[in-house]
Amino acid sequence: MATYLVTGGAGFIGSNLVHELVRRGERVRILDNFSTGRRENLRGLDDKMEIIEGDLGEPAAVKKAVHGTDVILHHAALPSVARSIEDPTGTHAANATGTLNLLVAARASNVKHVVYASSSSVYGDSPVLPKEEGMRPEPKSPYAASKLAGEGYCLAFWKAYGLETVCLRYFNVFGPRQDPNSPYAAVIPNFITRMLQGEPPTIFGDGLQSRDFTYVEDVVEATLLAATVPAAAGQVLNIACGRQHTLWDLVRILNDVLGTETFPRLARPRSGDVRHSQAEVMKARALLGFRPRIDFEEGLRRTVLWIRASTSRPTGTGNDRPGIGETSEGSPAILIAEDDPMLTLVLHEYLDRFDFAVHTTDSHEEARRWLEEEGGLLLLDGSVFKQMGIPLADLPRRAVICSGDADLVEEARRLGMTAFCKGRLDDLGKTLRQIATEGPHIPSSAPIPLRRRAA
Ligand code: UD1
Repeated sequence: MATYLVTGGAGFIGSNLVHELVRRGERVRILDNFSTGRRENLRGLDDKMEIIEGDLGEPAAVKKAVHGTDVILHHAALPSVARSIEDPTGTHAANATGTLNLLVAARASNVKHVVYASSSSVYGDSPVLPKEEGMRPEPKSPYAASKLAGEGYCLAFWKAYGLETVCLRYFNVFGPRQDPNSPYAAVIPNFITRMLQGEPPTIFGDGLQSRDFTYVEDVVEATLLAATVPAAAGQVLNIACGRQHTLWDLVRILNDVLGTETFPRLARPRSGDVRHSQAEVMKARALLGFRPRIDFEEGLRRTVLWIRASTSRPTGTGNDRPGIGETSEGSPAILIAEDDPMLTLVLHEYLDRFDFAVHTTDSHEEARRWLEEEGGLLLLDGSVFKQMGIPLADLPRRAVICSGDADLVEEARRLGMTAFCKGRLDDLGKTLRQIATEGPHIPSSAPIPLRRRAA
């Protein structure tokens, strides 16, 4: 089993990678200086990975972080074009010098493979669309220049020392765990937060600028492929959805999703801003077998769910969470058995509001044990218990069924169970609040014994 180092592992893309690596049972270490990364992004993972708090500018911390690792996913960086316009030196130090320091340590420590998070911004404003990897980079902001410098070092370390590096040019990534509150927040979390608060978002420029917005789950998939495909070494690859949406498209879709009619404010365009951006993703498809799966609208829907769920969430690291089968004082425990990492994430965020002790598993065996011992409530995805071979009628009545399958939800309700369609979190919330105040048993529903699956 390989040991992964994720630099910037508490940041947006980094933490999504860490969660997926942990889910896949990999050994993970992160290096983060927590300047923009957030501990809450790593909630629930405390005993499943190692954190080294340190900066890419501190040789001792970098050496310690790199030691004994096989694969580095290098995501530590100071993001934001706007920030780099204000602070070009700081951006260069973190993104370019930081990358060089990391590569020096990786080489000394015989690391096998480095995946570098580059950016679509390196293409600049050349009028040709879609952008192909062979085009001449034309950075128009210090951020873009710093990312391009990092690419240069990665390629040089591959050519000069044989250190396997691959540069992934991510195109405007969005999704859960992207900070909506930073002064340099990216456009999507920024607009969603404002529109949820009933405030108009601000469009810089005429709003006709376009981006190839890419959902983070697809980026995680591509990155983990790049980490394991030897043919990727020495390559630069676009990682994107391959579509193009203007800011007006974004506002229109968000109004649809949120059921609002918000009209944005217009302000002067930002310096360093690229006009249009769209990727050709054929190279990543050919080399990695990468295919984006989540389209823009679906990604936005999921992101809205997450931002909604995470607002009013109590802060904290989650270190004090009880183990499986235990409950925190006075609060019922819930096990989420889900195959869909996104829904699991949303449920986690959401359930925290109701003071539940929440555990997650995608192990059917664990879910089965939980059911048999009846250690608490269980939120089940329909597909999970189908795979467990347990008929719906055999589940204890205290199981809370959460499914995208409307027939299944109806059947569960006919059986007297609490069942909700995925996406209707507010309904789920009402019942959970009731359960939280009345105790772990759903009122007037005696659990029925579970029949074991025939061998
Ligand atoms: C750029 C890169 C992206 C990189 C990111 C890191 C390009 C094409 N993309 O994103 O790959 O990951 O930097 O920071 O260079 N905007 C508003 N109102 C707001 C916020 C933003 O109108 O409140 C506008 C911006 O001016 C821009 C667009 O929305 O035109 C997207 O901005 P942002 O989300 O900050 O990302 P980019 O700078 O495009």
